[in-house]
Amino acid sequence: MDKYLVIGNPIAHSKSPYIHQSFAKETQQTMDYQKALVEIDDFEAFIQQFQAQGGRGCNITVPFKERAFELAGQLTPRAKAAGAVNTLIFQNDGIILGDNTDGQGLVGDLLNQGVELKSKRILIIGAGGAARGCILPLLEQAPTSITITNRTYSKAQQLESEFEHSALNSVPLSELKAEFDVIINSTSASLSNRLPEVEESVIATAHCCYDMAYGNEPTCFLTWAKDLGVAQTVDGLGMLVGQAAESFRLWRGVTPQTSKVLATLREQLS
Ligand code: ATR
Repeated sequence: MDKYLVIGNPIAHSKSPYIHQSFAKETQQTMDYQKALVEIDDFEAFIQQFQAQGGRGCNITVPFKERAFELAGQLTPRAKAAGAVNTLIFQNDGIILGDNTDGQGLVGDLLNQGVELKSKRILIIGAGGAARGCILPLLEQAPTSITITNRTYSKAQQLESEFEHSALNSVPLSELKAEFDVIINSTSASLSNRLPEVEESVIATAHCCYDMAYGNEPTCFLTWAKDLGVAQTVDGLGMLVGQAAESFRLWRGVTPQTSKVLATLREQLS
């Protein structure tokens, strides 16, 4: 049977095995998908061993995404742009292909939720790995503009100069204007129940606020946005399911339905 793993440290709470097993059932694919806790020093050796044993691919999570990027023998354009890999495909020629499906997961979820991106003005708060990974897939949706802002402004500037795209710009937090349709919080602030320091008027005028984080309750960022009158607030659970669906498609050549899995995960969370 074709074998797949999600690899990380920690990994105990990963929802990926449940998600991929559900996709396999729904699409009638015979495959095995498990999670593996790998020691920090053992990552590369573990991957090589899994490949040698006939493994077909892996999902990679914290803290190994950059090391998977280095390890891959080939990279997709979106993985190159992200500087990180969350999906490894063990090809028949033995070469390991590295891809990054996180950005597609975000874009797919936004579109599934009815959020328009074409000709819209998008603000990304945060300039870490999560922001970097979603820039190219968002640009492909032809928004009017993507503005990156960050607590440490130099990192936002760095992303702007790296991508060198006419629709992409960076603005310091304190200089943002109330002019965005869609605001995406890519910071890890929500994980510690903190808000990025953005003026309320900037948030209040958006049509949709998206938080890449999720939990059993709305994140503080989404609660704040809702209180300020933002019509649509969406957390990152759909992005998690979406990135998994895109990995599954790459491995198996079939696109699974995401709505049922997402509904079950939502139910489990609450
Ligand atoms: P990830 O890969 O999840 O993006 P990361 O690369 O460590 O993680 O980046 C975390 C992002 O969250 C950064 O943009 C960080 O801002 P700094 O670059 O200034 O550190 C942002 N962040 C984390 N905690 C924050 C907080 N309390 N307020 C605002 N931004 C925060």
